[in-house]
Amino acid sequence: MSEAILLIHGFPLDGSMWVPQVTFLTAKGFHVLAPHLPGFGGTAPWGQERYSIDALAEEMHRLIQDQAGGRAVVAGFSMGGYIVQALVRAHPEAVRGVIFVDTRAEADSLEVRAGRLRSIDDVRAQGVAPLVETMLPRLLSKYATPELRSQVRGIMLRQSPAGVMGAQYAMAQRRDQSDLLPMIQVPTLLLVGAEDTITPPSVAMAMHNRIPDSMLVQVANAGHLANLEMPESVNNAIVSFMKTLPG
Ligand code: MLT
Repeated sequence: MSEAILLIHGFPLDGSMWVPQVTFLTAKGFHVLAPHLPGFGGTAPWGQERYSIDALAEEMHRLIQDQAGGRAVVAGFSMGGYIVQALVRAHPEAVRGVIFVDTRAEADSLEVRAGRLRSIDDVRAQGVAPLVETMLPRLLSKYATPELRSQVRGIMLRQSPAGVMGAQYAMAQRRDQSDLLPMIQVPTLLLVGAEDTITPPSVAMAMHNRIPDSMLVQVANAGHLANLEMPESVNNAIVSFMKTLPG
């Protein structure tokens, strides 16, 4: 089987956020998986109480077992990065390499957590549209084209309220993973948009400094959604990283 790469999406997005990477990496011969998390991309949502970052990591572990022969390079964007960290902690043997894209290791501050719980109530009352309009300007840099803005808005608008509420609930409950970083035993690539204001380059640099075998690539002219804003830079960084993995 060819080398497997599992791409885990962010919030409130779905597996389609990885289309430029799926296309490019598949053409390079990799076995690429870009699943939708439960309640996203038209998949059935769980009940809210079932959502946790650890439970989502277990889903991803099952996928690696079923579709990747038990081991994969695992990439996570933002919320996807939280899931990768839970996966590495629970099932290090299933992870051959790690790619963190615009993410962080810390849990939420009390203020951010309270904001997520308020947002769950808002989504329940008004649907996802108001949340999408609040988030969209923060996800992309000033360099993003109107076409990309509208594409990202479209992806977010089609996510189910139950999935969005569940993911907020999971993120609000998540543990701090800072202590995991020095224990990551596999090669790790950190990618961050130079203009990311949600998880800025300083956050990625701090993670890089704590992960033993890691490299950091800053993506110029890109915000939080660096993989969609500058797909070529991200694709090339991933392929270069894949070449460094021990055979
Ligand atoms: C994401 O892009 O997945 C979110 O910004 C993550 C978060 O809300 O912490």
